[in-house]
Amino acid sequence: MLQKWITSMTAFASIIFPVLEAIKPHRIGEIGAAEGGNTQLLYQFVEKHNGTLITIDPSPRGTFLQWVASCSNHVQHIPECSFNAIPQAGDVDVWFVDGDHNWYTVYHELLLIHELAKQHQKPLMIFMHDVGWPCGRRDMYYDPSRIPAEYLQPYAPAEQGITLQSPVPITGFLKGPCWALQEGGPKNGVLTAVEDFLKTTANEYEWIFIPAILGLGILIDKTHPAAKEVIQFYAAFHHNPVMALMENDRINHYIASTALQHKISMIAD
Ligand SMILES: C[S@@+](CC[C@H](N)C(=O)[O-])C[C@H]1O[C@@H](n2cnc3c(N)ncnc32)[C@H](O)[C@@H]1O
Repeated sequence: MLQKWITSMTAFASIIFPVLEAIKPHRIGEIGAAEGGNTQLLYQFVEKHNGTLITIDPSPRGTFLQWVASCSNHVQHIPECSFNAIPQAGDVDVWFVDGDHNWYTVYHELLLIHELAKQHQKPLMIFMHDVGWPCGRRDMYYDPSRIPAEYLQPYAPAEQGITLQSPVPITGFLKGPCWALQEGGPKNGVLTAVEDFLKTTANEYEWIFIPAILGLGILIDKTHPAAKEVIQFYAAFHHNPVMALMENDRINHYIASTALQHKISMIAD
């Protein structure tokens, strides 16, 4: 039996919530709730501080909808894709971006969030997941039909997976919705989207990259009142080579055990 593969943003709670406690955001926006693991942690925070959580996901999973209905005082679920939902989110202080992991979606989410922040004169702060391998330089599509053809990388069917060793998808291994056939190149991947977004801004933001658990990125407006403290807090994590080594090792072990399980299931058949 495979061990559970840690992929949720909840894994970063110990280094995110001390920062939230320090800056006390009144309104938090979340793109991508899935089962609501991170949503529930954010909910506990806004409930404690009498704030509001806006959570955006067109297809949350498990018991999310029942849970969200039971705590509607401080949380509003928008069951739509991010492009429709972001403009309705109001004066959000801090965003969590973890929805569709491809260049087109993330680049345009960042533009919309940036525009909304300007409109409400809120200095931007965003926590972004999946800026490392595998989505940093390779698009993944929950639903390729939602991406305009000119931005859609050639992609493999959903049953094909990827490994660290191969730049192209192969049968088995780390599966996802649909992976781009190739890793790298222009307009491909979440990290590439962040870099391209930063090129459109006037050096307004600081970018922090934490190379653990699929990669956590933090974008913060340099004029944010807590910018200096936040940058200092994450300084030891930013591009930390030991964390990067451990993440690479974790991915390799997971892929090896997935491959072994695939072989065992072939023999058993
Ligand atoms: C990786 S999961 C989120 C995991 C969650 N943030 C956590 O850390 O536990 C991604 C979620 O994003 C949602 N999603 C996909 N495309 C989206 C979009 N365009 N807008 C908003 N959510 C989207 C999917 O339905 C899925 O539930």
